[in-house]
Amino acid sequence: KTRQMKILCIGAGYVGGPTMAVIASQCPDIKVTVVDINPERIARWNSERLPIYEPGLDEVVRSARGRNLFFSTDIEAGIRESDMIFVSVNTPTKMFGTGAGMAADLQYWEKTARQIRECSNTPKIIVEKSTLPVKTAQAMKRIFDAGNHKTRFTVLSNPEFLAEGTAVNDLKHPDRVLIGSDTSPAGIRARESLVDIYARWVDRDRILTTNIWSSELSKLVANAFLAQRISSVNAISALCEKTDADIAEVTRAVGMDSRLGSKFLNASVGFGGSCFKKDILNLVYLCRYYGLNEVADYWEGVIRINEYQKERFVVNMLGNMFHTLSGKRICLLGFAFKAHTGDTRESPGIYIAKRLMEERAKLVVTDPEALENARFELQGVEGDVCYTEDPYAATDGCDAVALMTEWPQYAALDFDRIFRSMAQPAFIFDGRNILDHAKLYTIGFNVFPIGKPALTHFHDEPSIGG
Ligand code: NAD
Ligand code: UDX
Repeated sequence: KTRQMKILCIGAGYVGGPTMAVIASQCPDIKVTVVDINPERIARWNSERLPIYEPGLDEVVRSARGRNLFFSTDIEAGIRESDMIFVSVNTPTKMFGTGAGMAADLQYWEKTARQIRECSNTPKIIVEKSTLPVKTAQAMKRIFDAGNHKTRFTVLSNPEFLAEGTAVNDLKHPDRVLIGSDTSPAGIRARESLVDIYARWVDRDRILTTNIWSSELSKLVANAFLAQRISSVNAISALCEKTDADIAEVTRAVGMDSRLGSKFLNASVGFGGSCFKKDILNLVYLCRYYGLNEVADYWEGVIRINEYQKERFVVNMLGNMFHTLSGKRICLLGFAFKAHTGDTRESPGIYIAKRLMEERAKLVVTDPEALENARFELQGVEGDVCYTEDPYAATDGCDAVALMTEWPQYAALDFDRIFRSMAQPAFIFDGRNILDHAKLYTIGFNVFPIGKPALTHFHDEPSIGG
């Protein structure tokens, strides 16, 4: 009988947890252990209530946990016994010193690398799963090579392309798996052993192998391109609002060009999530580091438009609600950064909530999965805010509803009932364009979509005040 292969993943977050659960469920003969420095997180992974909400995740975890999938806080033991180590720690934007607000904060990653070095007695394949600046593998190798002479480390880059809300499906049916390695015999051997794992459930022609720098860079570029599409659409949504063009009609016409494609063209209150802004900032920082200021400025524009779109949403609310929100009750319908997740990192709802509170509105936040995180995001912010899971209770007595998250259940709400419970005139600002605007108008709402003509019951010009 051959020896069982042992995989370790350091970092039990949104990426480490689901990715390892899918590997374990697809490869019952491999022992997969996920470790974290955060004991509460590990306890939740071992409980009935997982630390993150992802459709289908409970089933996958339940199928493998205790069989060949383990969650533990014993990082050192995990390192010692493993053959292959995925590093999936967080790499947030650095908030201090050189590169503050731009560069990736690599302290978690570096601590992990040193810990791996100190605890290893047998050869290890180290897989960069976190999103890292290009050339990190070189730094990682330097750390491994300094000090530990007992064993050998081979570094691979294997960025993760899953999107939250569809993580399990994305992991089971990825568009592609990307593996970067060097071309030494050890590099190629390590690469092939990782290819063999994915090949259990992914077609080989979807498994791309590249040099390690291309792999690291491709992850930043993929996110930059995706975010750029949204900023392009959102920029045009502002022009639509000035010209009575309809952004949905424009993106449909544009997206039918097979060179462009129709996906990922929804106008919104702005993109959020833990990745887009951080990864573009990281790309911009790299470009500036290499003296490529024009390239940096170009990509920075993607973030500038996203900030503009969020601010535009608030200014639009203020202007249309007679230039004062003071004391008005406003419901934020949804707080997650997208539907089907409880994650609120960089959610546009955070910015909108803070700005509305600055205008002294009274906020009621509702979300089916993200209230715990919403409370965390807004703790300590000065102002009046309360939370409820029931959307009818949340909208009761409100002057306005601002839809932040495209939860499908929100499109199915009884808006007749909501309208009757609201203060008049009642306003609805659809930050995701998922509601039936004509119907809302008929019910009596004043309706403000993104990038489409507003539907109001006021027949004069808006008053100038403020
Ligand atoms: P996360 O914050 O949810 O999880 C990271 C985990 O690492 C945390 O639980 C933290 O406690 C743990 N950790 C930090 N330092 C550690 C250490 N020294 N030892 C052990 N554990 C440690 O982050 P995430 O969303 O899973 O993202 C992880 C990486 O994957 C990031 O680089 C991110 O850019 C990338 N990524 C994220 C997504 C996504 O959708 N969230 C998608 C693709 C790639
Ligand atoms: C993203 C990438 O899609 C994924 O490949 C990468 O691994 C991690 O970053 P994620 O942030 O989880 O995934 O979600 P995504 O679906 O990309 O949405 C990001 C943000 O853009 C959300 O706030 C979403 O609502 C918004 N968005 C998306 C739009 O505003 N319009 C769109 O058409 C699509």
